Amino acid sequence: MKKLISASLMCADLMNLQTSIDEIADSGVDLLHIDIMDGSFVPNITLGFDLVNAVKNYTDIPLDIHMMVNEPLRFIDRMNLDKNDIVSVHYESDIHIHRTLEAIKNKGIKAGLALNPQTPVNCLECMIDYIDMALIMTVSPGFAGQKMFSGAHIKTVSARQFLNNLGRADIPIEVDGNISPENGCKLSVYGADIFVLGTSSLFIKGKDMKQSAAEFRAALKEFRYV
Ligand code: DX5
Ligand code: ZN
Repeated sequence: MKKLISASLMCADLMNLQTSIDEIADSGVDLLHIDIMDGSFVPNITLGFDLVNAVKNYTDIPLDIHMMVNEPLRFIDRMNLDKNDIVSVHYESDIHIHRTLEAIKNKGIKAGLALNPQTPVNCLECMIDYIDMALIMTVSPGFAGQKMFSGAHIKTVSARQFLNNLGRADIPIEVDGNISPENGCKLSVYGADIFVLGTSSLFIKGKDMKQSAAEFRAALKEFRYV
């Protein structure tokens, strides 16, 4: 599977968002990761639906929406997305998460199921027909700039094996949180396909974003981890 990188918009210069998006596009990333929080599912509030729609109108980069909100079904219609975009919802965010995933798919958008560090990978099994991606959180969600939790590597291996055993090697695994080039390399070998790049790799003060993206891609190719 082709390895993709997704730029985390919450880590961009929020006072110069348009310029940042231009810079992100110029750096050749594959996806634009937009974190949406409600202050309840996670203890923070970041970007919102009007911004998602404004960004969608502005850029051709496919959007990778990460909903860290309770009962995300309430908000699916607030976003004007299409078949190129992905909306990920957390397993614990609704007691009827199947209904939410189905609603996303019915709108013709790709659906992702997001797993917190403690969420067992077997929750993917029953939802397998309703997902286009598994989002493995490598930090507890809510904030940029955190340290990866120590079980992230085994979690990624387990998720990859679990999906493969279900005959779904085609479902990509996205990893999100503290994805530095070094962590990204290891997680790539362990089965991750899509890498959310935030403060650990793409948004480094004083460093050219294009160069950071190129370095991350090069690191994925060169690293040999056993
Ligand atoms: C964490 C967010 C991430 C974050 C990743 O809750 O979902 O998208 O921006 O960035 P860093 O590299 O700062 O962990
Ligand atoms: Zn995220």
